[in-house]
Amino acid sequence: MKLLLTTLKHTRNPAVYLCRRRRSSPRSSSGLPSLQDDVRLVGSSPELVQTVGSQVEVRPGFITEEEEAVLLQELEPGLRKKRYEFDHWDDAIHGYRETERLRWAPPCEEILNRVRSVAFPRGSPLLGPVHVLDLDKAGYIKPHVDSVKFCGSTIAGLSLLSDSIMRLVKENEPSEWLDLLLTRRSLYILRDQARYDFTHEVLKDEESVFNGHRVPRQRRISVICRNLPG
Ligand code: OGA
Ligand code: MN
Repeated sequence: MKLLLTTLKHTRNPAVYLCRRRRSSPRSSSGLPSLQDDVRLVGSSPELVQTVGSQVEVRPGFITEEEEAVLLQELEPGLRKKRYEFDHWDDAIHGYRETERLRWAPPCEEILNRVRSVAFPRGSPLLGPVHVLDLDKAGYIKPHVDSVKFCGSTIAGLSLLSDSIMRLVKENEPSEWLDLLLTRRSLYILRDQARYDFTHEVLKDEESVFNGHRVPRQRRISVICRNLPG
């Protein structure tokens, strides 16, 4: 049961591009970009958005407010017993508490089955326990690649309580990046190259700007399903 968290902690390599900033931000040709444009994905070039963008999905409003409440009700009591961890300088994640859960109440299981059915091919073996990560308002996730030894080609996450920005940066090619707008109650899916060849991170509140728009970060809980390596 503790296996995933332990192995993730040891194999998420933190801080590869921690000090790098991208040099320019994209602008749409129609003037100032707007969050109302329904843009969920921006990147360093149209080509990258086309190619790697096809291995990234963001589905806004994947769960309803009621479903979010049901998940929170299930998760809050256990999370509240833990303390946010801030002071491990070598951790890939700063300001977080986490857990993993194998058995869920039926209404939660139903939501998770919907996630599984859109994210993973039918019959693909999944990691049993679902990973739950609670980021404090001041918390953030540094650039890392999930363990290839313990996790397969696909990562699917629900975002509860807050909007946030996930940034993908190509390993050894920091000028190639994609930003994903993860709205509250959305589902994101990272597949293949996007999962293996790019680091992913969740920006801290101070840096949380998507396509020129400030996206305030609150406390955020993610519920993450992964498959097993093939
Ligand atoms: C992780 C991770 C992303 C998220 O725990 O490895 O990248 O959405 N989490 O919380
Ligand atoms: Mn990760």
